[in-house]
Amino acid sequence: MRATLASQGWTFDADGATALLKAAEQGGIRLPSSCRNGTCRTCLCKLESGAIRYLIEWPGVSREEKQEGLILPCVAVAETDVVLNVPAARQISR
Ligand code: FES
Repeated sequence: MRATLASQGWTFDADGATALLKAAEQGGIRLPSSCRNGTCRTCLCKLESGAIRYLIEWPGVSREEKQEGLILPCVAVAETDVVLNVPAARQISR
């Protein structure tokens, strides 16, 4: 599956087992993050399209936020191609 960053147009591969945050890093893109376990909400971002599922039972997003399409990519995996809105994403220099 393919993940796309809406503002930058960058894409990376997303499989159904790797958290989007990690999949992005493997694709050379760093998304904002801190705890990486779904509690701090540093990585909170908008899922513009596509579907995800969570790797943990209680990700730190409220029902309202879920309805707005907000997700925590550190604990979410793609179920379809996804488009994320993460203005603060950076390319990792190698
Ligand atoms: S990095 Fe802390 S919730 Fe995602």
